[in-house]
Order: sequence, then C-alpha cells, then structure tokens
Amino acid sequence: MDLMEKIVSLCKRRGFVYPGSEIYGGLSNTWDFGPFGLALRKNIKALWWREFVEKEENILGLDGGIILSPRVWEASGHVENFTDPLVECKSCHTRFRADQLGDTKKCPDCGGQLSEPRRFNGMFRTTVGATEDSNAVVYLRPETAQAIFINFKNIVDSFHPKLPFGIAQIGKAFRNEITAGNFIFRDIEFEQHELEYFLPEAIWEEKYDYWLAKMHDFAKLIGLAPEMVHEREHSPQERSHYSKKTVDLEFDFPFGRKELWGLAYRTDYDLRNHSEKSGVDLKYEGSFPHVIEPSMGVDRTMLAVLCSAYFEDEKRVVLKLQPSLAPYKVAVFPLVANKEELVGKARGIYEKLKKSFMTAWDDRGNIGKRYLSQDEIGTPWCVTVDYQTLEDDTVTIRDRNTTRQERIKVANLETWIKERLV
Ligand code: GAP
Repeated sequence: MDLMEKIVSLCKRRGFVYPGSEIYGGLSNTWDFGPFGLALRKNIKALWWREFVEKEENILGLDGGIILSPRVWEASGHVENFTDPLVECKSCHTRFRADQLGDTKKCPDCGGQLSEPRRFNGMFRTTVGATEDSNAVVYLRPETAQAIFINFKNIVDSFHPKLPFGIAQIGKAFRNEITAGNFIFRDIEFEQHELEYFLPEAIWEEKYDYWLAKMHDFAKLIGLAPEMVHEREHSPQERSHYSKKTVDLEFDFPFGRKELWGLAYRTDYDLRNHSEKSGVDLKYEGSFPHVIEPSMGVDRTMLAVLCSAYFEDEKRVVLKLQPSLAPYKVAVFPLVANKEELVGKARGIYEKLKKSFMTAWDDRGNIGKRYLSQDEIGTPWCVTVDYQTLEDDTVTIRDRNTTRQERIKVANLETWIKERLV
C-alpha cells in the first residue's frame, strides 16, 4: 500500500472520512466526515479563526449564504470566466480537462478520439421555487468570497471600520470539477477559509507580503514541515480573471507537489463590478478599496495535516498531530477493568479532565492495545490509573510521539496538559 492508500484506509477505519453515499455504491468525489474527521476539521477551523481573525486587528467575521442571486455571479465574472476547457472521448465518453492532457488527441483511458475542447462552467446550477424556467436558475457558490463583497456595505454601515480591515468567512463551496480526485484533495463540495482584506491601493504590496508570511506561519502551526511548503507565482495566463498577482503555497503531497492555498491580489475588481452592476455605491473612504485574499481550503489543509502526521514503524501507526488539532487531547484508562477501585478512581479523573479537554475513556482489552488505538487517532497523551495511584495519588502519563511515560500527581494533571497544549 502506498502512503495515500494507508491514509485513506486509516481515515475510513477510524472514523475520519467515509466515502459519500457509500451504501448506494458511492458518489464520486464526495465524502462524509466521521466523528474524528469532524473534530479535526473543527480544530483546524478554530485555529485558523484564532490566527486570521481574533489575533489580528480589524478583522470581522461573516457567515454568508451558499445560494446567492445569479446576478452576483454575472457581476463577479464567474458566469463568463469560471470555466475549464473540456474534451470528451467519443468512444468511452470520459471527460477530461484539455489543459491537463497536453497535445494528445487520444483518450488516456481507451485510446479513443477526443472531441474538440469546449468551455465548461464549473458552477453547480439549481433552480429556486416551483418552476424550473431559466428565471429561477441560481448557483451554489464556487467561492465564499462573493458573499463578503456583496455584504461589504452592510458591514461598513454597521461597524465603520477604518481601512485597512478584513472580512473573514469559513464555509462550503461547490465546484463541478471535471477531474476531481486524490481523496479529499479535489472534491466537488468542500470548505474554504477566506479572508478579504480591504486596503488602499498604495499599500497592497506590503500587505501582500504580510499575509503570505502569515500563511507560512499557519503551515508551521498545523505541523507542516517548512521544506515541504513551496511558493509558486501564477503566470499571467494562469491567473484567475480577477487577480493581478497570485502566489500558491504548494505542498509535497504523496501524489506530487500541488496547490495547497492561494494568495491573490484581487485589486478593486469585485467591489467595482458589484457597484456598477448593482447600482449601489461601494466606494469607501473616497474610492474602491483594493483587496488581498488569502484563500485556504479546509479539506486540503486536513489532507496535508494527515500526510504530515502519518508515521508508522514495525510496532505501530501514529498520527503525530499537533496537540491543538488532535480530536482527543488525552485518554484515561484504568490499568485493568475488573478492579473496582481502579475503575472508580480513573472515572473520577476522566470526568474531571472532560470538563477542560476532549477526553477519551477506554477500559477494553489490555493497556498496550489501548495505547495503539489512541496512537492511530493522534491522542497526544494517555493517563493510566494503576495500583500506585491508590497509594500516592499519582498516575502515569504517556507521550504519543516518544511512548515515554512519566509519573505525575493527579492534582497537577490539568496544568501539565494545558502547558503542553500547543
Ligand atoms: N476565492 C478564491 C478562490 O476560491 P481558488 O484558488 O480557486 O481561489 C482557493 O481556491 C483554495 O480552495 C485552494 O487553494 C484550495 O485550498 C481550495 N480548493 C479549491 N478548489 C477545491 C476543490 N475542488 N476541492 C478542495 N479544495 C479546493
């Protein structure tokens, strides 16, 4: 099994990620997140919010809609430009992105003849209301950003922030990708953390560098090795229609070096267009603010975190997750499950720790198996209540990465964990 297969298998087995609609044979490129996947994503998103919103000055949050007026996507340029060149095999009817195939005119799957490329819009369309005529067509958002631009006036009217300031959002986005794949790397339904940072044009370069550095810092914080994260600037042909400069942070995934996150300088493109098309004046402090946009997918972040954390040797499989991201921070075990005093004491510690941390309880099988089980889901510390605990009120605490154990006072447990919870 290669590394990706091992990660996919662990994610399924241990309740991180399940294939979408599985009991009906699956629906390609859709995924459901189990209890630990949900916890990991929640922790990633909370850390992002902490770093990009709460620790910054002048960043406000928003939770905009997924279904926006189709006029939003006309004004933003997505109806016209959010397209990829699609070719279809005339024999097996598999579809490919022409720009990813090179010069070949033959189907990579069956050798059949490929059609001429046509522009394929990646937005999901649906209809609102009881009629299905073209007036009822709406799109699921392909980026969270537009909800921010169309609420710009609402936010400034409520808060009167001074430039520069930002509006941040975490939420679902949908893209009808022609070629999705590589597990949760490219899906059709995913989540983004996005920040639209509004500023006077004169300071865009300085702030661009600031947010780029911040993205590198975030990569370190979630446990990605700096030597596996690389900057790549888009060529003018490759840039999105709204961008004047885009730098991707790429990551060395097991299937190659690929885009992890992007940082775009969107100029005043969005506010200017929404202003023109809606007729609502979106100038602020005398002109259209310019925008720097760090855009970071939750799913790709989760995958990079899992790839970085996965470790195995002949004895065990371990997710060396940063403690702040781990679903459980600590697990509590009685040494044996059939000694009432041990179980009672351990339950007491578990109940107490649970109030401060996500805490697991396990009294099945033997201690060795319980350690291995917690290692696989990335629990940083395991506390065992043994006979000595009953004498001197100390427990052993085992470190996931080193497997070393130390004895500490029960009274010090909470502080001990808090001090190490980064
Ligand atoms: N608002 C700008 C924007 O959406 P993007 O480069 O198209 O820019 C930003 O997307 C980020 O969203 C990407 O760097 C990636 O992390 C994530 N992303 C984009 N498409 C994705 C997909 N199909 N599946 C998973 N994540 C995706």
